[in-house]
Amino acid sequence: SGVVDFYGAHQAGIATPPQDFVCFAAFDLTVDAVAQVRKLFQQWTEAAAVMTSGGMIGSSNDNPNLPPSDTGEAAELVPSGLTITFGVGPSLFDARYGLSAKKPDTFADLPAFSGDELRPEWTGGDIGIQVCANDLQVAFHAIRNLARIARGKAVLRWTQEGFQRSSHSDKAGATPRNLMGFKDGTVNPNVHDPKTMDEVVWAQADDGVPWMAGGSYMVVRRVRIRVEVWDRSTLQDQEATFGRHRRSGAPLGSRDEFDQVDLNAKDENGNPLIPMNAHVRLARGDNSVHLLRRSYSYSSGLDRTTGQLDAGLLFISYQRDIAKQFIPVQKRLASDKLNEYIVHNGSAVFACFPGVREGGYIGDTLL
Ligand code: HEM
Repeated sequence: SGVVDFYGAHQAGIATPPQDFVCFAAFDLTVDAVAQVRKLFQQWTEAAAVMTSGGMIGSSNDNPNLPPSDTGEAAELVPSGLTITFGVGPSLFDARYGLSAKKPDTFADLPAFSGDELRPEWTGGDIGIQVCANDLQVAFHAIRNLARIARGKAVLRWTQEGFQRSSHSDKAGATPRNLMGFKDGTVNPNVHDPKTMDEVVWAQADDGVPWMAGGSYMVVRRVRIRVEVWDRSTLQDQEATFGRHRRSGAPLGSRDEFDQVDLNAKDENGNPLIPMNAHVRLARGDNSVHLLRRSYSYSSGLDRTTGQLDAGLLFISYQRDIAKQFIPVQKRLASDKLNEYIVHNGSAVFACFPGVREGGYIGDTLL
């Protein structure tokens, strides 16, 4: 039935192997007092615990004179690996709720990066919720009910759905391909190794922000891919863009997807096999900084101004410290050959709380 535990030391949906679908939602709070924010997280916790275990919100014998307590479209469906991951944005720590002293020092909206074309309709938010499931209807049901419960306390600011190849069409669970046709996610920290996760993903008690210990910082970037342009570029050009072979996913000059990336490898003429502006070379740098990528493809109809597809990558990464991990990597990508084909048009960062124990509520270390 695919139940992922809601309670635990860490929130589900981070180390959880990526499910087939994501429904991402950013909210803005409309309440005046921190007590009402706390109340919202308490209500959300209760609903999230029920939904992730496959239950219906509220009582089952609904009163005919009231709206049903659950919107109903996930009735009889198995939970499908549903995870609901909650985080708060830097704006939560402004003057409204008296929380400014609790803001982690380096936690802020991302600086402007070269080539950014951020649009307000896909940027920011007081609260971010990543819902993932192996069934889009189950995921949508969760976001919809969380928004319904938030009525009068928070409003939706932006949403984005995403997908990858489903577990139905790839039973073996190979590395998924993005909309550029390349395997995406080959080099990623091992989520099954607690030591690596503590180093790369989980904020630690001695990182200076006690309420975040066991949590993680999320970066979300809505990256449009100019698929029409990409589809007119040659295979050789595409492979040079990433520095990997398209079919196998192997580093250029190697055979297998998981072969070591050797940035010093040269061809017979002494030229680097992996070009100097290839995405994997720049993303890797000196390989001293890592982050956990957990991205999804998206397709959101047409860009009416050009008649081209509005499709791309909802890039999501988790890290222990955004200033030390995401930002230096993204800065290096300023000269990425991939930039000929992509544009970042949405951006947000969220401090995702540690996991919650039964009886507690999401955010109880802060609120
Ligand atoms: C590697 C695609 C944006 C960080 C890769 C790979 C592909 C890829 C195909 C090689 C396979 C793999 O190891 O997963 C894309 C696409 C993007 C995008 C299509 C945007 C549309 C980003 C961004 C970042 C990033 C914004 C972070 C700032 C990385 C890292 C690696 C990687 C760290 C692994 C490099 C290594 O081999 O050590 N990406 N990527 N990517 N990407 Fe991206």
